[in-house]
Amino acid sequence: MRMIIDTDTASDDAVALAMALNHPEVDVVAITTVAGNCSLEDTTRNALYTAELCGSGVPVYAGADRPMLVEAGFATWFHGMDGLGDQGYPTPSRSAEEENGVSALIAHIRANPGSTLVTLGPLTNVALALVQAPDLARLVGRCVIMGGAANTVGNVTPAAEFNLWFDPHAARIVFASGLPIEMVGWEICRGEAGLDATERATLRALDTPLAHFFLDCNSTALKASRQQSGTNRLELPDPTAMAVAIDKDRVVTASSRHYVEVEAESPLTRGMSVVDSLDVTGNPANAEVVQAIDTDRFKQMISEAARR
Ligand code: RIB
Ligand code: CA
Repeated sequence: MRMIIDTDTASDDAVALAMALNHPEVDVVAITTVAGNCSLEDTTRNALYTAELCGSGVPVYAGADRPMLVEAGFATWFHGMDGLGDQGYPTPSRSAEEENGVSALIAHIRANPGSTLVTLGPLTNVALALVQAPDLARLVGRCVIMGGAANTVGNVTPAAEFNLWFDPHAARIVFASGLPIEMVGWEICRGEAGLDATERATLRALDTPLAHFFLDCNSTALKASRQQSGTNRLELPDPTAMAVAIDKDRVVTASSRHYVEVEAESPLTRGMSVVDSLDVTGNPANAEVVQAIDTDRFKQMISEAARR
């Protein structure tokens, strides 16, 4: 599977990147970075560092450093000031490519028709690419989006999940673009999908560099999750979406196609993913909305990535 990953690399993105970079059946042809969890400089550094940990020389391209219209609202409160739990990781030995992430997305999608595009952050890069090159929508084989919350509670406002909230105008463009979207909402990534204390201890006991990295760089996120929603589980949204991208047949246990539209103007519901679950609008479905996953299979994939 040829894959292109767009990411605002912070702690959960890093685990998702490693799942793809370390998977024997996945060829990651490019990583593009975007501002979101933290600044573009930090997300780009974090992507380069993660690729280095995986022994990968995949090209990394820095894209948009801010949303299309709204002010940037970083999530360093959740992921740590550097995005990776403030562990003091060393500076990566290589830099990002010269080419901008948006033009790199266009070039790599055109060069790899039928590839899987996985988006792990705000959709600014993807939207800007689509505005420049609308034909991309029919060149992408699958577009797996970690984003939204299908008619349920958000994690950054009561109505919205972070990736769509951060750049709601970009999200509107992407969901209206005709891309073959598979939406993995935040609701799929919570509860049983989170790693409980026993599962974290089992991962730690693998005693590999990546097992320690996965847990250490997510240490701030775990604390923030406890404060935000009282859970003692390590919820990993981007790895959840990556598991769907890599092994959909075994991971996804329920999904359905619906019309989805993102609110961009209302201060109260900015970024809300409105899913027409009962198809009352009569609008054609524009996304496959994941409804349930096999959490055991998902967690097994994290463990497999940590062993490599
Ligand atoms: O809401 C969760 C999403 O927002 C994840 O992609 C996380 O990394 C942040 O980008
Ligand atoms: Ca992310």
